[in-house]
Amino acid sequence: MRQGLITGGVAGAAVLLAALALSQATPNSRQTGAAATRGPNGFRNMTPAQRAAATRRFLGLGPPPDKAAAALGAPLFRQNCAFCHGPQARGAEGPNLITSEEVLDDEHGERLEAFLKKGRPAMGMPSFATMSDTQLYDIAEFLHEQVEDVANRGTYHVLNILVGNAAQGKEYVDSHCMTCHNAETFAHLASRFRSPDQLQRGWIWPEGLRNDGSLAITATVKTPDGGTISGRVTQVSDFRITLVDSFGQTHVIDRDPGVEVEMKDPLAAHEAMIPSLTNEDMHNVTAYLETLK
Ligand code: HEC
Ligand code: HEC
Repeated sequence: MRQGLITGGVAGAAVLLAALALSQATPNSRQTGAAATRGPNGFRNMTPAQRAAATRRFLGLGPPPDKAAAALGAPLFRQNCAFCHGPQARGAEGPNLITSEEVLDDEHGERLEAFLKKGRPAMGMPSFATMSDTQLYDIAEFLHEQVEDVANRGTYHVLNILVGNAAQGKEYVDSHCMTCHNAETFAHLASRFRSPDQLQRGWIWPEGLRNDGSLAITATVKTPDGGTISGRVTQVSDFRITLVDSFGQTHVIDRDPGVEVEMKDPLAAHEAMIPSLTNEDMHNVTAYLETLK
């Protein structure tokens, strides 16, 4: 059913959801708690959490992704997967993972972890056997969040994540973010997102925020003959690196002995602060940034 939703189109889901809200009934009152949902004002009388759960079931989504794990998975995905599958897993040289059965049939990594450990090397999908179970779990949760992002378009008003405390969020930002940022980073940040949920994803992992390539991973490669090539990294493995230079020209360089590769990730410093964020911090900061619209 999850896959049916994705391929069937998100617009359909939004229309269905609107119908759901209008009829003020839930598709499955047994699961959502009959008392809360029965009667003419059932949907309206639900708590935000009940409403979100009802919506998730109605849209055929699996259990909600673990947001803290997904935040840790974002940089891992960027460094290990995005070159082939695109920054938001929507596909590049490798397939789109939002519509992948390997992803949609997985709930919390139980299936994906096994898949990623093996890969499909003969088909160009590397094995990630050296990654820890925790890292693979975090990547799986990141992928589920991307699926949600596509599936929930238009339905975000129901999924209220503004549960944090804005004053505590401000304190957190003042003490943890201003070492690297200034007020300008955060002014009107919220208006760049369609929903608080996306704002949260966006500030925790701002990779998608700029399409001008300024946040891309770059590298400088020194060759044994003394030459230097710099550019945006589009592929990298232990054996080879592919760069696109400022003229748009592609360079494929074998990492032979004597070849030095220096990679630079503009988000490395931002990435370093992610592991210290608790769920509460995330909600508080989002609540605060939402007030800066
Ligand atoms: C070097 C390029 C490359 C990298 C890096 C890469 N993949 Fe892949 N991936 C592929 C290709 C190509 C396929 C399609 C294989 C096939 O045709 O069976 C694939 C397939 C997959 C599939 C299965 C899709 C489906 O439904 O058949 C998943 C899931 C996946 N990759 C996840 C990941 C994740 C997560 C990472 C990072 C940890 C990653 N990949 C890194 C190239 C890559
Ligand atoms: C150790 C340094 C560091 C810390 C701490 C840090 N960041 Fe960042 N952040 C960066 C860097 C570097 C970038 C990417 C380049 C840039 O925007 O200057 C970035 C980018 C961003 C962006 C994207 C800005 C844009 O418009 O493209 C947002 C939003 C952001 N960070 C929010 C936060 C928040 C919220 C916190 C605190 C919870 C935080 N950052 C903590 C270093 C940091």
